[in-house]
Amino acid sequence: MKKKSSVVIAGGGSTYTPEIILMLLDNLDKLPLRKIKLYDNDEERQNKLAKACEIIVKEKDPSIEFLATTDPELAYTDVDFCLAHIRVGQLPMREMDEKISLKHGVVGQETCGPGGIAYGMRSIGGVLENIEYMEKYSPNCWMLNYSNPAAIVAEACRRLKPNSRVINICDMPIGMENTMAEILGVASRKELDVRYFGLNHFGWWTSVKDKEGNELLPKLLEHQLKYGNCMTDGGGNFTDDSWQETARKVKDIVAVDPTLVPNSYLKYYLFPDYVVEHSDPNYTRANQVMDTREKRVFGECARIEKAGTAVGTCLEIGIHASFIVDLATALAFNTHERMLLIVQNNGAIENFDPEAMVEIPCIVGKDGYEPLSIGKIPTFQKGLMEEQVAVEKLTVDAWQEGSYHKLWQALTLSKTVPSATVAKAILDDMIEANKGYWPELK
Ligand code: NAD
Ligand code: LMR
Repeated sequence: MKKKSSVVIAGGGSTYTPEIILMLLDNLDKLPLRKIKLYDNDEERQNKLAKACEIIVKEKDPSIEFLATTDPELAYTDVDFCLAHIRVGQLPMREMDEKISLKHGVVGQETCGPGGIAYGMRSIGGVLENIEYMEKYSPNCWMLNYSNPAAIVAEACRRLKPNSRVINICDMPIGMENTMAEILGVASRKELDVRYFGLNHFGWWTSVKDKEGNELLPKLLEHQLKYGNCMTDGGGNFTDDSWQETARKVKDIVAVDPTLVPNSYLKYYLFPDYVVEHSDPNYTRANQVMDTREKRVFGECARIEKAGTAVGTCLEIGIHASFIVDLATALAFNTHERMLLIVQNNGAIENFDPEAMVEIPCIVGKDGYEPLSIGKIPTFQKGLMEEQVAVEKLTVDAWQEGSYHKLWQALTLSKTVPSATVAKAILDDMIEANKGYWPELK
């Protein structure tokens, strides 16, 4: 019989928690569980969904113990995996990140540009705190961390927690691969073998093969040049219109380099003027998430709690999140699955900073991951990545040193920001807005 695992979800009050629980429960044959715990530092928020999650777990498998707590010791004692998806400052601070940037005519986005830098300055401390709890109470636990901004958080982990059992991951390439499989007429993304390199939210596919080893990249590029990462009728694997729009814009990114398939987030760096023109500075993605996903998930959880049953629920399994089960399974049962992870380069990309945190395919087994060798990357991608990795490193420098200048440099260097003057204006507003979340900058 397979060993059963105990998991804690850090950031238990996240609107993604119920779909992740449903996904865990749907995969008990792959990853059997004995305990599911929720941990958050905001009890009121976590309570909006904890009872519903408990009902969902009990109805699926009453032998699984369930606990929702704000006590780190209870949360982190006797756990094998921590699934971490915290958002320090929650959605109202995301709204500030987006709106302050847009007020200065700059891309206002969760992880790209000034929004990502500001969010990084908040996230680092929260993620480190959770790693410390994990190491204190369950030193053999693995943290699968997908708290954003993943690139900056991963760089902070590399520097400040070099020996910790933390693996940084992102579901963004998986979301795109689901649609790519559809475009290519392949049953699922699991039927594709991919090669990919880049930074988080900043990368390219260099190869997409079927299981017979046929290279499908040229066919995919031909399609994307016409339709972006959507079906010919504009459809695809999208949770809402804004994702569909992002997928459509892939067409213009591919036009710049028609040899590689880009991550759709490159639109924020290559077409920042277009993005700003198409943004509403008074109603951003954070508002949309609060008005839609947050209301829907908390509303449904309240309904389940009142009804005392989750039968007939509209909550859905988070298919994007299936990579979390795959990763935990690979670690627990040594499957040697190939997965995209955010890891230290260490020569995997031959002509790139060995200390940079890059997103590349790795083989995952019980002792962790082994990155695959990528070789040399082209000048255009290398140039973009060098600028962006410097932004990420300067942000972590600023956090560690409490340095105003390092953060100003990070903002100035971001491809989304037009000048040092604009960077400074954004920085000064961000400092005001982030009082109590950022270290004091001098
Ligand atoms: P959310 O605001 O709905 O939930 C996040 C929760 O984290 C909140 O309940 C908050 O109280 C809690 N939290 C904040 N600081 C904490 C701390 N120090 N310890 C414990 N809990 C803490 O956010 P969301 O929209 O559900 O997103 C959650 C996170 O997952 C974000 O970082 C988001 O960017 C990220 N995300 C990552 C991916 C990926 O694949 N990398 C995909 C989707 C979302
Ligand atoms: C979300 O809130 O859905 C994000 O995590 C990504 C985004 O902006 O859609």
